[in-house]
Amino acid sequence: MDWGMRNRISRIIRPGTGRTVMLAVDHGYFLGPTSGLEKPKETIQPIAKYADTLMLTRGVLRYTIDPNDAPPIVLRVSGGTSILTPLSNEGVTADFEDAIRLNVAGVAISIFVGSEHERQTLLNLSELVNLGERYGIPVLAVTAVGKDMNRDARYLSLASRIAAELGARIVKTYYCEDFEQVVETCPVPVVIAGGKKITEKEALDLTYNAVSRGAVGVDMGRNIFQSENPKAMIQAVRAVVHEGAKPAEAFDLYRSGGIST
Ligand code: R5P
Repeated sequence: MDWGMRNRISRIIRPGTGRTVMLAVDHGYFLGPTSGLEKPKETIQPIAKYADTLMLTRGVLRYTIDPNDAPPIVLRVSGGTSILTPLSNEGVTADFEDAIRLNVAGVAISIFVGSEHERQTLLNLSELVNLGERYGIPVLAVTAVGKDMNRDARYLSLASRIAAELGARIVKTYYCEDFEQVVETCPVPVVIAGGKKITEKEALDLTYNAVSRGAVGVDMGRNIFQSENPKAMIQAVRAVVHEGAKPAEAFDLYRSGGIST
């Protein structure tokens, strides 16, 4: 792996712990002004500093994040659909030169294995990997987004492995029963999405279970920014991911309002 690629991956997965807390705030690219992100700047700015990496679109990045004080960015570069149309019908939405201009640590693209548009989205990933490898920018493949996806270990292993085979440097998937199977059969690091909002304690359990079973961390959105206290919640997630806190300890941290900094 060349220096640039290694350097960018180290800006996503922290070398100190080998783990990451990615804050996913890209939901608007198909959901529009979704709950908690109606005014992205107001939601994201107070918590961005607690994220190892921010995952978002270039539009929200330019309008929300100060380039003089930005965490590493994983740029969402697939889309072209909305919740009103089949989600799987995605294309690549950002020019690779723009990703370079934005000095991103990585780019993210969804694949829809088992959907009508499986081939198209896998070829989108492959083309992005060709560019990413040329310029030393890791590609993160997002699997199994959408309510129609069967999120069991068999399906998630299939989708995650295909993403890795096509060259994704990091795979984002969902936690499931027998999650070890997904991680063990995927040769690149795996992060989990949080999914729909659940209680804070449940989200911390989910985080703990995922990292205990081999995930390198989370790429979590709604369970942080839709929390009653997003700042405390992201700190609690960090405690689990980076400090090995048990869910109960992390929940105490959440309930105490986090550490003021
Ligand atoms: C979905 O396509 C987006 O990539 C989200 O970033 C992803 O689902 C993670 O967010 P959440 O934790 O809200 O599921």
